[in-house]
Amino acid sequence: MDKNIKWMDNQLPKSEKEKSIEFLQYDEVAKAKNFHESFPQYTKTPLVKLEALASHLGLGGIYLKDESYRFGLNAFKVLGGSFAMAKYLAQKLNKDISQLGYEKLISEEVRKDLGEITFYTATDGNHGRGVAWTANQLKQKSVVYMPKGSSQTRLKNIQAEGAQASITDMNYDDAVRLATKHAQENNGVVVQDTAWDGYEEIPAWIMQGYGTMALEAIEQLKEMGIERPTHVFVQAGVGSLAGAVQGIVASIYKDDCPKTVIIESNLADCLYKSALAKDGEPRFVGGDMQTIMAGLACGEPNTIGWEVLKNYSYAFVSCPDWVAANGMRILGNPLNNDTKVISGESGAVSAGLIQAIMTRKDLKDLKDKLQLDETSKVLMFSTEGDTDPDMYRKIVWKGSHVE
Ligand SMILES: Cc1ncc(COP(=O)(O)O)c(C=O)c1O
Repeated sequence: MDKNIKWMDNQLPKSEKEKSIEFLQYDEVAKAKNFHESFPQYTKTPLVKLEALASHLGLGGIYLKDESYRFGLNAFKVLGGSFAMAKYLAQKLNKDISQLGYEKLISEEVRKDLGEITFYTATDGNHGRGVAWTANQLKQKSVVYMPKGSSQTRLKNIQAEGAQASITDMNYDDAVRLATKHAQENNGVVVQDTAWDGYEEIPAWIMQGYGTMALEAIEQLKEMGIERPTHVFVQAGVGSLAGAVQGIVASIYKDDCPKTVIIESNLADCLYKSALAKDGEPRFVGGDMQTIMAGLACGEPNTIGWEVLKNYSYAFVSCPDWVAANGMRILGNPLNNDTKVISGESGAVSAGLIQAIMTRKDLKDLKDKLQLDETSKVLMFSTEGDTDPDMYRKIVWKGSHVE
């Protein structure tokens, strides 16, 4: 397998730019943030300023959102599933989401009105845990399918939320089709973190839910005196998260939009391949996609996310596993007084990439293209903690996945 980092700047044809981010305007996403703020578990996750790392790499600032603190679930993903499930229930009850805060949602009265609902989903771990957790809070049922090779710890964490969860013998994209089929056969509700033609409403709500993280980060930057980051690095599987972050950043900063970099595993780099194709049509990657970045092991782009990314993103980067492993080690072993961040395989690839870009001769063209220098203020997201602790330890202690 190729050990090189590959990249492509955005040369894609644009289509209905403003329309593609309508659902990610501030007012829409603020509704998700208000909803999440009603949870007793809610606190803003930390935005960590990695001052020593930035200065070591020759950057003006690195600001990293640490999502390992999210609702005690060790990943950002619950933001999407919980908001989409609440929006779905609000629609069923003919109410506005603003009338359905956490207390109301989990009330006996609402449960009686709704009757029994079973939510179906496929997941590489974090999304399924978020859906199972939310279903559990609502005293409803969930059924969760995981791709071949999924971690037993991640499976157990989902089962611990009361879900009927299992590891299948298929990849993520096929597991999504299986979840959809079983939901249809059993009159269940599919809560999937990706969109395809004809299935867009719930994924759009999921993306709005992820927006809570982006809005928090933008507020926290302001509190630190940063009006606007110059660069945003965000990792992608299907591109729902990246599309959400990109859409929000574009709608807030408008013509002064930071340069955004979309980062994938090279074993599941469907967005990078779509960028390479230059015709604006999404491309698929198939097979087992056995990357350590389990959360990014998705081969079929989210259709509505792709529209946002192709219209606004600056560059697409495809990274081998060593980049994520490096990021985990860098964040777990901070310089000087920088805060330590426990970042899992899918969470750390942005940190690994920024270090590679700023230090490797073979990436000088990318550094120049992005205009990364001592004036740059880079925002990124550690989207998970050690959601598979055995794998985390293997990588950071035993030094596996070294280039
Ligand atoms: C930790 C983590 N980071 C990033 C992602 C990527 O999100 P998306 O599939 O929306 O691109 C995932 C997806 O599961 C994830 O679990």
